[in-house]
Amino acid sequence: MTSNIILFVAAYLLGSIPSGVWIGRIFFHKDIRKYGSGNTGTTNTFRVLGQKAGISVFVIDLLKGTLATCLPYIFGSSINPLWFGLAAILGHTFPIFASFKGGKAVATSGGLLLGYNPAFFFFSLALYLIILYITSTVSLTSMLSAIIITLSTLILPYIAPGILPAHDWLLTLIALGLTIFICLRHKENVGRIKSGTESTIGFGRKKKK
Ligand code: G3P
Repeated sequence: MTSNIILFVAAYLLGSIPSGVWIGRIFFHKDIRKYGSGNTGTTNTFRVLGQKAGISVFVIDLLKGTLATCLPYIFGSSINPLWFGLAAILGHTFPIFASFKGGKAVATSGGLLLGYNPAFFFFSLALYLIILYITSTVSLTSMLSAIIITLSTLILPYIAPGILPAHDWLLTLIALGLTIFICLRHKENVGRIKSGTESTIGFGRKKKK
């Protein structure tokens, strides 16, 4: 019991590492929260601090979720790993090390999938990249992917049981909860998408604004 509480706290603290804020401060002397969308995640880091910083933030935020999800495997807890991944997502979104103002839960949710089921993570990543290519808009891609990944937890087991076993109801429930949460965290992005002012990226169909 006590050791599980310690693991949950460790997962939350791991998720709380504000990679975008710290990389911005240490290497660029910039507070990422004062530039671009103000978000501390991968997209805004790319936008404000460039490719190397963006990739670094993506990898760190992803691995926070992965490592937290793997904690019960490493320390032998019988609690479902998904709950520890969720604790890291909670830390990522409300980080104790950055005034509880964190990211939009996308990369760390990906990390949870990587730690829980690598095959399903790579399926989800491929889906994400296809949607990103079509929409050229990261925020829209994040929300659409979350919805389709949740539906995939129900459909994929019947198409590709090797990737995902059927009836993993906890995964479906957590994916659904995360989808709602991710959409709520993108409220301002939705406003910008509606008004046509949301920024887009270069490699897809639409041209960068
Ligand atoms: O993962 C966050 C992304 O979907 C949107 O980020 O900076 O465009 O609000 P941003």
